[in-house]
Amino acid sequence: MTQNKDYILGTNSEELKRLGLQHNVWKPYVLDCWQRAGITIGHTVIDIGAGPGFATMDLAEMVGETGEVHAIERSTNFIQSITKLSSDRNYKNIKVYEIDLIKDDLPEMKADFTWCRWVACFVSDPQKLVQKIGNTLSKGGVSIFFEYSDYSTWRLAPQNFAVESFVKEVMKSWRDTGGEPDIALRLPTLLINSGFTIRSVKPHIFCVRPNEFIWKWPSSFIENNLVRLLELGKVTHEWTVNVRNELKQAENNPNTYMITPMVLEIIAEKI
Ligand SMILES: C[S@@+](CC[C@H](N)C(=O)[O-])C[C@H]1O[C@@H](n2cnc3c(N)ncnc32)[C@H](O)[C@@H]1O
Repeated sequence: MTQNKDYILGTNSEELKRLGLQHNVWKPYVLDCWQRAGITIGHTVIDIGAGPGFATMDLAEMVGETGEVHAIERSTNFIQSITKLSSDRNYKNIKVYEIDLIKDDLPEMKADFTWCRWVACFVSDPQKLVQKIGNTLSKGGVSIFFEYSDYSTWRLAPQNFAVESFVKEVMKSWRDTGGEPDIALRLPTLLINSGFTIRSVKPHIFCVRPNEFIWKWPSSFIENNLVRLLELGKVTHEWTVNVRNELKQAENNPNTYMITPMVLEIIAEKI
């Protein structure tokens, strides 16, 4: 059963580790985006649905001692991780809020930036989320989202039916719990409805072979999510064994290509 403060992907230590690897894979693209969006020393940034805090730490380094990062997260495990990471680094510019983005009031502030990655796809009311994010920003403040626009681009060449059936199960499991994997398709309209103007929309998609670092991002997701889907009773043990074996076989072929789920980077300005 999914617990009250948990969500479809879970928040245990294996998932925490996976989010760390995922952050490292994406870090060059994220740092580039933050710089293009204008985040720099002295800014106040809110990390919306911060997870274990890997992006929070990079933001804290970027805005420096004269800036502030406010990390909002619902999971107690992840909140503990953010607190530990910031105390290990002796960062004094991070404030942590253990709250629900939809049910609770967000902190009252007029921030310069918000950063929200892979969170809108899991919430029950994305329009409410975007509206609440807008309320935390000053006029001219900038909201950055990284969300999927077409999860089903996640395929292998040569074609692999087991991986494709895994992708379908994942999408179904998010929809069954009130989320929408392809939420980025709706975000520009939701942002405009909430008083934003869109500065830029940029796709991020990779095509990688098994010996490339980026491959570890989707492959570690498959490993963790097979366990999770089984634990939630959504699939059978035999099905998970088949997906795992098929992925292993594909990985043994150096000429397998993995096309990753399409992500849109959206930068919007509050007017
Ligand atoms: C896939 S993780 C992404 C974490 C982080 N943004 C990152 O990019 O590494 C999704 C996060 O959203 C959080 N989350 C989902 N729904 C939430 C809600 N209603 N309120 C607060 N946090 C939520 C989860 O607890 C989880 O940490």
